[in-house]
Amino acid sequence: MGDAVDSLAKVPDGSINTVVTSPPYWAVRDYGHDGQLGLEAEVDDYVDRLVKIFREVHRTLADDGSVWLNIGDSYFGKTITVNGRPPRTGWKRNKQLTLVPFRVALALQEDGWWVRNTAVWHKTNAMPASMRDRLTNSWEPVFLLTKSDRYYFDLDSIRVPHKTSDEVERKRAESGSAKGKAQDRPELRQWLNSPRHRATIDGIKEVERRPNAPEAVELAGYLRGALKEKKKSIGWVAEQLGLPFERTRHYFRTDKIGSRLPPPEVWEQLKELLDLDTQYDEAMAVELGDNVFRNHPKGRNPGDVLRIPVAASSSNHFAVMPRQLAEFALKATLPKNGSCLDPFMGSGTSGRVARQLGGRFVGVDVNADYMTEYLVDSGIISPDTETLW
Ligand SMILES: C[S@@+](CC[C@H](N)C(=O)[O-])C[C@H]1O[C@@H](n2cnc3c(N)ncnc32)[C@H](O)[C@@H]1O
Repeated sequence: MGDAVDSLAKVPDGSINTVVTSPPYWAVRDYGHDGQLGLEAEVDDYVDRLVKIFREVHRTLADDGSVWLNIGDSYFGKTITVNGRPPRTGWKRNKQLTLVPFRVALALQEDGWWVRNTAVWHKTNAMPASMRDRLTNSWEPVFLLTKSDRYYFDLDSIRVPHKTSDEVERKRAESGSAKGKAQDRPELRQWLNSPRHRATIDGIKEVERRPNAPEAVELAGYLRGALKEKKKSIGWVAEQLGLPFERTRHYFRTDKIGSRLPPPEVWEQLKELLDLDTQYDEAMAVELGDNVFRNHPKGRNPGDVLRIPVAASSSNHFAVMPRQLAEFALKATLPKNGSCLDPFMGSGTSGRVARQLGGRFVGVDVNADYMTEYLVDSGIISPDTETLW
């Protein structure tokens, strides 16, 4: 219980797998607690404070961890005033959208976070607004943030059914009048009725794939070792291959930006030139496949628009996160027996869902009553437990 920054200081480094959270939005609601976030006089102060809280979140997060951050927007005007009046300085004017979620996302990106998605939470039951000079706001951003470009993400657990199945398309094509490019090409007919496949219907082109290929950086390290052992230079290799030095150099570069895997024919030549052993034979093996894109057997990627109704607020909480939103997020980023953190837990939706999915939960809130209610509700403490804080 307490302010997010102070309480997070007690959470060990790297101990959290995922965070699902929705902080108080700027200048929208008074949670009636000293030290609460969201009532800063200036939007920049709100952003700075969140960045500081997220520095602590970053520390507690495992290297392959991730954060789902839901923040809503607000307009300057009635609720956001300066000295009791709608502001009129610079861009800060009455009726301006503050764009605060994006200010936060940009600031977090500057502070070292990776922004991997701006998912749209489309509130399917959003109330139409009465204003006549703009659209009703019916969505909020949900940012997926990570500590690095590699992180735990179980896409399979959130896949959704394909709109059309390969089987249906095949039947349609068989019964239909497949003409044109697929005339006399029965092997192509099955793809004809699907817009998904039209781009490649010119013919099945064979493409070479390396399904187990190592990272280019890793292979470059190995090639450098072999080069050293042979006491040869990259220039010498380029000459033997008959390739420009600049191109050959990329196969030996151990930085992510410049490193490239050699194409199959060059790899074969390198193996001979540098007397390479067999350790990468399997990983560099080439498979032939057609370039017709088929349905993934486990369903399609759900996309970044999440159609979820707003949850009804309970007697004690105004801004409760819909269970469905927490469930979607946690299925993707909470590993088996993993831990979830919410530094602004409120009624504890992310905690309830995380525990239901078999995970552990660490929650923080400035409001002791919220936390007590969560602990009683979840059966962690009994209702007659003495004051905890
Ligand atoms: C939008 S609500 C979170 C709702 C929550 N996701 C749920 O499903 O109920 C934001 C919460 O942040 C808490 N809060 C405000 N300022 C805080 C701070 N400085 N540190 C920790 N929690 C804070 C509020 O008490 C409120 O419960």
